[in-house]
Amino acid sequence: MALQLGDTVPDFTQETSEGSISFHEWAGDSWVVLFSHPADYTPVCTTELGTVASLKPEFDKRNVKILALSVDSVDSHKGWINDINETQNTNVNYPIIADPDRKVADLYGMIHPNSLNNLTVRSVFIIDPNKKLRLSLTYPASTGRNFDEILRVIDSLQLTDYHQVATPANWKDGDDCVVVPSISTDEAKQKFPKGVTEVKPYLRMTPQPNK
Ligand code: BEZ
Repeated sequence: MALQLGDTVPDFTQETSEGSISFHEWAGDSWVVLFSHPADYTPVCTTELGTVASLKPEFDKRNVKILALSVDSVDSHKGWINDINETQNTNVNYPIIADPDRKVADLYGMIHPNSLNNLTVRSVFIIDPNKKLRLSLTYPASTGRNFDEILRVIDSLQLTDYHQVATPANWKDGDDCVVVPSISTDEAKQKFPKGVTEVKPYLRMTPQPNK
């Protein structure tokens, strides 16, 4: 069965462009974004990996490690990284898993045979420090992903974990947040000194607690 939110993600040991990694050990106490793409030396993927490299300081700030995957070999990845750095004006500064036998791709359900024959689709997994799956999404090969949205989801997940607020539709960093349903309005008023607005008994808003 496909991985579901809240599942403990599978562990694996695999070669990457930065040497062999044992995934759970490598992840340690960090959050992880694991993302796959169809193949090396393809145009959309080239822009995606360059974009993620440029955003690496943003992921670092949030205690997030980046791990990419494609079904090609380490040697292929290394040659392609040179092209990404040259064309995207960046420095790929995170490992890319080599998965020629599709071991990790099968473990994580990244092959969708009716979409791309034997190639990984554009999957993204956000994994928390307890190795629980917190988000998964799948994009078609022809659509490059929006990594600002991935950062936005990480901010939302971390606000929920660390401050017990949720985020409303189209929330952006700095906007008001939603008090989670498990907290009563009285409790919320104690917990959120910046104030709580009760729009409805089930819809309570508060300024973003960590701003
Ligand atoms: C790409 O990464 O550019 C790509 C890969 C497979 C199909 C279409 C585009």
